[in-house]
Amino acid sequence: MQDFERTFIMLKPDAVQRGFIGEIISRLERTGLTLIAMKFMQMPDDLAKEHYAEHVGKPFYEKLVTYITSGPVLPMVWEGANAVDMARKILGATNPQNAAPGTIRADYGQEIGRNIIHGSDSKTSAKREINLFFSESELVSFSKIDAPWVHE
Ligand code: RTP
Ligand code: MG
Repeated sequence: MQDFERTFIMLKPDAVQRGFIGEIISRLERTGLTLIAMKFMQMPDDLAKEHYAEHVGKPFYEKLVTYITSGPVLPMVWEGANAVDMARKILGATNPQNAAPGTIRADYGQEIGRNIIHGSDSKTSAKREINLFFSESELVSFSKIDAPWVHE
């Protein structure tokens, strides 16, 4: 069995407003990844700026912070084999117009500034982002009953 890793995934305000919470979580669940933490929150401005610190100074930065704080978001932690890369593939390219059919961004989005969902881009980012949104005690580690049917 491969080592498990954790990734930070967040449904953005457009996913919440358009009523896709259940569908998207369901798509992630059926891949065999395990949900170990979840919140529903209005992201404070300072947390948004910290989360997107790497984009400070880029032309889209201000709009990005406005977008991510424009309504409730649903931050989550998912665990599984190669979880960071797997989740990025399931999410699809940043711009829904370039995302492969069958990915979440292609199936639910139209524009880069309304791209539905966030996913960590590396193990280092995942650790940083998980710590920004969750305390250690909020990460619920448990064995899923179907594990032997998902993992060799
Ligand atoms: P994310 O962080 O949200 O998972 O997206 P990503 O890694 O695929 O893309 P990233 O480069 O980190 O960009 C963060 C978010 O900023 C918005 N964006 N807009 N207008 C633009 O050119 C532009 N570029 C990026 C998107 O919402 C993107 O998800
Ligand atoms: Mg990113």
